[in-house]
Amino acid sequence: MPQYKHHIFVCENLRDASDPNGSCGAKGGTQIREAFKDEVKKRGLKGTVRANKAGCLDQCSLGAAVVVYPEAIWYGHVTIDDVQEIMDSHIEGGTPVERLRI
Ligand code: FES
Repeated sequence: MPQYKHHIFVCENLRDASDPNGSCGAKGGTQIREAFKDEVKKRGLKGTVRANKAGCLDQCSLGAAVVVYPEAIWYGHVTIDDVQEIMDSHIEGGTPVERLRI
């Protein structure tokens, strides 16, 4: 079994547009996870970093929500444009992206 250095969980929960809680699925959750997966592959990190789909992480109003383990660093309002920075700074550089932390 691979020993992952990081697990990136991306909320993809999708609620009806009329739901006042909103949802990460409506804020690009699936595309964000796919972008993380692409970056993991491109950077040769398969086997050490894994991007997983998550259900609701209970941070709906702050979505799209992402949490990285084992550090338990939570990010909010994540967009597809933030994926590179999280990969560069946090996953590869070891420094969480402060501006996105919740
Ligand atoms: S819908 Fe993503 S945290 Fe709840």
